[in-house]
Amino acid sequence: MKFTLLLAGLSLVAAAPADADASAYSNVLNIINKHQGHHAKRDLADSAKDRYLVFFKNGTSIQSINGHIQDLDSKVSPEVGAMAGTNGFAATSSNQGIQGAFDVDAFTDGKGFTGYFGSFNSSVLDSIRSSPDVASVEKDVLISLGKHAAQPVNLTELHKRDFQSTTVAQWGLSRISHLNNNVQGVNPDKPSTVRVPYNRESSKYDTTVYVVDTGTYVQHQDFGGRARWGANFVQGEPMQDLNGHGTHVSGTVAGSTVGVSGEKTSIVAVKVLNQKGQGYASTIIQGMNWVLSDYQKAGQPRSVINFSGGGASSPGLDQVFQQAVQQYGIPTVVAAGNNGQDACNESPARASKGIPGLITVGATDHLDNIAVEQDWSSAKGQCVEMFAPGVTILSLWITNDDAAATMGGTSMAAPHVSGAIAYFQSIADGVVPAAVLESWVKDASTGKVKGDLGGAANNFLWNRASF
Ligand SMILES: *[C@@H]1O[C@H](CO)[C@@H](O)[C@H](O)[C@H]1NC(C)=O
Ligand SMILES: *[C@@H]1O[C@H](CO)[C@@H](O)[C@H](O)[C@H]1NC(C)=O
Ligand SMILES: *[C@@H]1O[C@H](CO)[C@@H](O)[C@H](O)[C@H]1NC(C)=O
Ligand SMILES: *[C@@H]1O[C@H](CO)[C@@H](O)[C@H](O)[C@H]1NC(C)=O
Repeated sequence: MKFTLLLAGLSLVAAAPADADASAYSNVLNIINKHQGHHAKRDLADSAKDRYLVFFKNGTSIQSINGHIQDLDSKVSPEVGAMAGTNGFAATSSNQGIQGAFDVDAFTDGKGFTGYFGSFNSSVLDSIRSSPDVASVEKDVLISLGKHAAQPVNLTELHKRDFQSTTVAQWGLSRISHLNNNVQGVNPDKPSTVRVPYNRESSKYDTTVYVVDTGTYVQHQDFGGRARWGANFVQGEPMQDLNGHGTHVSGTVAGSTVGVSGEKTSIVAVKVLNQKGQGYASTIIQGMNWVLSDYQKAGQPRSVINFSGGGASSPGLDQVFQQAVQQYGIPTVVAAGNNGQDACNESPARASKGIPGLITVGATDHLDNIAVEQDWSSAKGQCVEMFAPGVTILSLWITNDDAAATMGGTSMAAPHVSGAIAYFQSIADGVVPAAVLESWVKDASTGKVKGDLGGAANNFLWNRASF
């Protein structure tokens, strides 16, 4: 799947540059395809061992990239490995090679690749590092959602919301539509008994939210046909949400009954995390490249990117999230993380500091306390720029097409913010810049969050509909 998508994306672009560039481009493509074909046969876990991400310097020409890739191919070509081995493959050299490329039209206007990833031994890595065209080399890291326990809820019993009705069973929706806390009396553990007012204007314009996650159960009734598949970058898994997390997040963004911005908001599912809620930085960057490319082609300026994973630090991952905002202008929302620690230690949460339009979100409970739960706590610290509801959040589930469940986490808080950005874009006449949207969702309601924020900005999500 990944292989096919990469080809599809590249062939569109290959025609654009001048002849010499086009031939250099297709040469690079051929080498990468050859390597990928070889690596496709390897065990998934094995192929992640000793895997590195390599980024070219900004502005490197396709001719230079061609030279670099040819040189690398001469060292670690699959044929070289095969010949060196006694029984077909030599263990050391056959496992080396390029496993994928970072896309193309995304950052370089069709003139080249931004980088690649693959397995290389220490001496090959040294030669990669010493290339004048290489900006950075980093180890590929596993990004994970952490613990998320889902509690099933019968959605049918909660009476569906239509857009004339203003009461809902999801406390977070009510909380974000009021400046002052109006849900202190409810019991979020029993959503079937909760009916609270959710105030908002009707949407006028179509908006799109890219959910970069475990996938989305797009057939769920509550999406009313507004969710669709974008792409799947997880090797060895189908185009299906096998975890539930991405479906839950998508429901909070745009479900008809449980979502912040229903009726005119579409969900595009981009799967980068597997059944266990884990994915490599390299896979997430590929997913983000696809989003940026789709965003350019789709020409839907009212779009939002939402990502929930977090983990070890990856400069490459930080960079691709920053580029989404800085070069493409797409507001992008990421979860702070659920380890109760300083969000500045995790990618991409730490990347948002000083970048207007890239927003890191922490979680609160229904009493406006920063979330400190039995098995998870909201990350805090200076890299957290705002808070939104994230404890016992009712949303959609994957067991059948009207299933629902409650979950907790900063992953549940972030889609409240993505949904609110989509909502503001859907009511504003004219396209609103990412930096302004960031200020709309976070600057109006301050000083609400209680507890130890560790230096996080005390901003709380408010859709400005009521006091
Ligand atoms: C790369 O270069 C272009 C044009 O030279 C510039 O607009 C862009 O901001 C640069 N990107 C980065 C990440 O430095
Ligand atoms: C790394 O791989 C190259 C190419 O297969 C080989 O020539 C070299 O000896 C290897 N170096 C180490 C340290 O294994
Ligand atoms: C949900 O509730 C409805 C109405 O009470 C009931 O008909 C349905 O069987 C329930 N579904 C599940 C999965 O329990
Ligand atoms: C939004 O981001 C959060 C946190 O990064 C993530 O958990 C969630 O899945 C994302 N939601 C959407 C709709 O992309």
